Amino acid sequence: MAKHVSVENLSIIFGRPKAQKEALKLIEEGLSASEIRKITGATVANKKVSFEIEPDELFVIVGLSGSGKSTFIRALNLLNTPTSGDIKINGKSLLELSKKELREYRRKDVSMVFQHFGLLSHRSVLENIEYPLEVQGIPKDERRKKALQVIEQVGLKGWGESLPSELSGGMQQRVGLARALVNDPELLLMDEPYSALDPLIRREMQNELLTLDDSFERTIVFITHDMNEAFRIGDRIALLKDAEVVQIGTPLEFFKNPANDYVIDFIADVDKSRVLKARNVMHRVKNMIHVKASAKEARDLMRATESEFLFVVGDQKKYLGYIDKEALKGKSAQSLETYIQPDENIITRNMYLSEALKVMSDSIYDVAVLDQMGQLRGALTSDEIITALSE
Ligand SMILES: Nc1ncnc2c1ncn2[C@@H]1O[C@H](COP(=O)(O)OP(=O)(O)OP(=O)(O)O)[C@@H](O)[C@H]1O
Ligand SMILES: [Mg+2]
Repeated sequence: MAKHVSVENLSIIFGRPKAQKEALKLIEEGLSASEIRKITGATVANKKVSFEIEPDELFVIVGLSGSGKSTFIRALNLLNTPTSGDIKINGKSLLELSKKELREYRRKDVSMVFQHFGLLSHRSVLENIEYPLEVQGIPKDERRKKALQVIEQVGLKGWGESLPSELSGGMQQRVGLARALVNDPELLLMDEPYSALDPLIRREMQNELLTLDDSFERTIVFITHDMNEAFRIGDRIALLKDAEVVQIGTPLEFFKNPANDYVIDFIADVDKSRVLKARNVMHRVKNMIHVKASAKEARDLMRATESEFLFVVGDQKKYLGYIDKEALKGKSAQSLETYIQPDENIITRNMYLSEALKVMSDSIYDVAVLDQMGQLRGALTSDEIITALSE
């Protein structure tokens, strides 16, 4: 299960204990980080940060250099300790973990990917990936098996025996990702993982991350200073400025309701049609029915949802096709299976809107939006796309 993260009034201050204390007081008086620094000499790196990250969400934190992004993400595995406030993982405060619990949390529940890869240069790719399992004392056979699995997931099959120095930057970061995935973390922390890479490789890695995210239940916290990157991959985004959160929302919400001029400036260079994806705009599906339901249940649902057709799914919401009103008229067979029509108009949730629009062509109905596993995640109309792009 993916983790739920709750950040409550978190402040992190660097400096001497006395200066920290003074700074905390000044935070309460409403002074800014830079004012507090002038008065006390302490650095307020996070100031009263509060938000929740939902399980399975890909949550992005974006902000300029020095805005407090790394300080924040390092608090999620307690490499930085909150000066005040709290962080709860699935309802349990990190500050209340015993030493043993904290060790377990770091080994099993959470992993981190760093900007500069952080690979061990004298070890092979596979040995690097296995490292977290080795630290846990997992037997050699078992950890090799797991490492071979994840090396394939990140597209590095066949490179296991190479040394990191023999790999390109993009490939080295894939190793970094594999090493972070090897213990199946429920919370994955990524601190500017792609910032050192060329734009094209970077794009490719972003898309791969989205695909990977589709195939696992996992909460991801991703840090970047690039708004395009933030919007391209984030389900939701928090914009940090001078240690504080300026705005939190979905990419669409940022475009629709930028909180202030700073946000407007920040998103000015973002090209909507190149960042917004089906997942950002789709709506929840109400007219969905399980294939094992009866024709009567299908008709009732159509009436209740005022729909001309239903999306039919199997177990785990696997999308099977649609069934329309006409096909069910006068029918009362037990299973819907025989009435399902295969659907050729399908959108994947990581498709850009411009691409999705082409797939929809002239369909006036909702079009199914699927994830990588073929599960029905939502639906889209061409109106929704056009509105999103034009707003
Ligand atoms: N261990 C530390 N001791 C003292 N000051 C620190 C420490 N870590 C961070 N800071 C300060 O806290 C502020 C926020 O730093 P942080 O590294 O969180 O920013 P960032 O948003 O990650 O920046 P970048 O994009 O450059 O990585 C900076 O002023 C930095 O100098
Ligand atoms: Mg940083």
